[in-house]
Amino acid sequence: MANLTLTYSHLSLLYLFLLISSIQCQPINTDSSFYYNLCAPSRCNNLSLTYPFALPNSCYPSIDKPICPTNQSLLLASTSTTDTGHIVRVLSLDYNDPTIATVLVASDSLFTCGAQVSRPNFRAVDTIFSLPLNYTRGTHLNCTAPIPSDSIPGLQNASCLGCKGQDPTNVCYYAPGFVSYPTTCETFHVFTPGGAFNASGVSDMRAFLQLGYQIRYDKPAECRGCEKSGGRCGSQPISGSFVCFCTSSVHRMNCSDGMYHIHSQKFSFT
Ligand SMILES: *[C@@H]1O[C@H](CO)[C@@H](O)[C@H](O)[C@H]1NC(C)=O
Ligand SMILES: *[C@@H]1O[C@H](CO)[C@@H](O)[C@H](O)[C@H]1NC(C)=O
Ligand SMILES: *[C@@H]1O[C@H](CO)[C@@H](O)[C@H](O)[C@H]1NC(C)=O
Ligand SMILES: *[C@@H]1O[C@H](CO)[C@@H](O)[C@H](O)[C@H]1NC(C)=O
Ligand SMILES: *[C@@H]1O[C@H](CO)[C@@H](O)[C@H](O)[C@H]1NC(C)=O
Ligand SMILES: *[C@@H]1O[C@H](CO)[C@@H](O)[C@H](O)[C@H]1NC(C)=O
Ligand SMILES: *[C@@H]1O[C@H](CO)[C@@H](O)[C@H](O)[C@H]1NC(C)=O
Repeated sequence: MANLTLTYSHLSLLYLFLLISSIQCQPINTDSSFYYNLCAPSRCNNLSLTYPFALPNSCYPSIDKPICPTNQSLLLASTSTTDTGHIVRVLSLDYNDPTIATVLVASDSLFTCGAQVSRPNFRAVDTIFSLPLNYTRGTHLNCTAPIPSDSIPGLQNASCLGCKGQDPTNVCYYAPGFVSYPTTCETFHVFTPGGAFNASGVSDMRAFLQLGYQIRYDKPAECRGCEKSGGRCGSQPISGSFVCFCTSSVHRMNCSDGMYHIHSQKFSFT
């Protein structure tokens, strides 16, 4: 056991050594446009991913661990502890407004037959994103038995969210707001466009929810300034502070202000 530990720590040291030497040997710190090129938008199928959605790279810590399995669709994993394991699929990304990225998302489980969509205490909105005001919050309830119609204000019958035959004996409902009906029902928060939602007008809730809902990401002012000046937003790898990667150098806020000395040790990625 002791031997194993020793070997392991030797290996770690070796790894550390290799890592340090690779950092020192990398020509990157002397190439002034290295970081700019590194931060070029990444692609996932037909989506172009810029700040803060790029696939993991060394420019900045991407939000919500974006992944793009088999180049099919961009998936974001919730980092909220009350919502671990919940994955949303990005249907579209709109950067036309320089101040806001608008993202159309839907729960990824809605696209896999047999997957559990409802979950107790499900929470869909991250603190990083905000929901546009023109959406109505509601709860889809997936119940093992019928519940009294007056048990939740505004309760409506709704179709269940599984594929055909998934939960043949379950009864499903929609109620405005975030509600719960413990033990009997699992809940899934839904966001529907416009005002009060009328579930009886939607014969296939699953297909309806697959259309997704819009969330928005407000770009920090420093990132707007950086992009406006032709740069690409990123962060200093060690301190995590904001930096602007420009075609010829690394700047503090935008392409026309103070530069980082990229030749110095101040700027090295691990
Ligand atoms: C991903 O798919 C897009 C088109 O859908 C294609 O242009 C791109 O080259 C693909 N990327 C990879 C890494 O396969
Ligand atoms: C992007 O790809 C998705 C899935 O492959 C497709 O549903 C969508 O229509 C495409 N969007 C555009 C703008 O081509
Ligand atoms: C509905 O609830 C049951 C438990 O009663 C669960 O096993 C099933 O996965 C849920 N269905 C969906 C589509 O989430
Ligand atoms: C919901 O469905 C049940 C049984 O299918 C029915 O008795 C009830 O009247 C319905 N409620 C509404 C509000 O439509
Ligand atoms: C909500 O408002 C945004 C802009 O504020 C708009 O782009 C979007 O289409 C609206 N959605 C609905 C469902 O009205
Ligand atoms: C909901 O829609 C149905 C038809 O789809 C209609 O009969 C019913 O009156 C509507 N309910 C409300 C509260 O608007
Ligand atoms: C660049 O940032 C500096 C502050 O660091 C600010 O004074 C200047 O106005 C900014 N320029 C542009 C074009 O945003």
